[in-house]
Amino acid sequence: MSARLLDGARVAASIREQLRPRAEVFAARAGRPPGLGIVLVGTHAASEIYVRNKLKAASDVGCRAELFRLPERATLADVLDTVRRLNIDEAFDGILVQDPLPSAMGSGASQAVFDVIDPAKDVDGFTPINAGLLSQGRSVLAPCTPSGVIALLQREGIAMSGSHAVVIGRSDIVGKPMAMLLLHQHATVTICHSRTRDLPALTRQADILVAAVGRTAFVRPEHVKPGATVVDVGINRVTDSGEVAALFPEGSPRLADFARRGSVVVGDVHPAVAEVAGALTPVPGGVGPLTIALLLQNTVTAAEARAGWSASR
Ligand code: GUN
Repeated sequence: MSARLLDGARVAASIREQLRPRAEVFAARAGRPPGLGIVLVGTHAASEIYVRNKLKAASDVGCRAELFRLPERATLADVLDTVRRLNIDEAFDGILVQDPLPSAMGSGASQAVFDVIDPAKDVDGFTPINAGLLSQGRSVLAPCTPSGVIALLQREGIAMSGSHAVVIGRSDIVGKPMAMLLLHQHATVTICHSRTRDLPALTRQADILVAAVGRTAFVRPEHVKPGATVVDVGINRVTDSGEVAALFPEGSPRLADFARRGSVVVGDVHPAVAEVAGALTPVPGGVGPLTIALLLQNTVTAAEARAGWSASR
């Protein structure tokens, strides 16, 4: 069997198309475009790329995104000051602090920052208020990656109601909100994590299997029920030629990509899973583009809601 590929890039493009007129209407009524403030601390290589993509995508749909850069040596207090200024700046409807923060800030720094973001501007859906609203099924701003997965499954006609969905990963950013959103779609949800016993026995029960582990090619064919829908949230850059050779069969275009660039991006799902799954999100081009599309959707939604125009959604 060869899995049907779920084209996240196409669904993301269609979501962005729907946002453009909403951003235009907002700009005409408010006298300014929806505004997104992105805070980037330090020089994390992957974050630089993600932030560049977010800035470009925002301007493409008619939002105004501005980058606030802080140096690697910035303190947690510096980041909190920046967030507090954005909280009260009327030109910004959305605030995003790119994760991870420099490790020198300590393990609780990201949560400390998310705790002070105005929930009405929390386009990541990471504040405690928005996490609580999500768990009660009445969120306005839900985390972008899991919301993007739901949008993709809906638009690709994958039935969630009554299905058994298994989520591997319990992060606050992806795993937990993913489980909540699937539950609200009436799936029966199991969350697996690093202490789960006999993981393959659980994942093989999944009609929908979501991998959000952060480990290259972690999900293998033996984890997957034949015909299942597999959603790969992972974005792992692989630079080791031996590892790449072990992942892709001879003649794969991904090997040619590696030869040209010296690295390839691989998800949390092993490429051989395509032979077992019924449907699969590719990496790249699956979940990644949806995360950005949903960030922009949240920005426009936040702008409309802050202006009291939520009815236009
Ligand atoms: N780092 C990786 N993904 C994300 C995300 O969705 N939001 C933020 N703020 N940081 C991230």
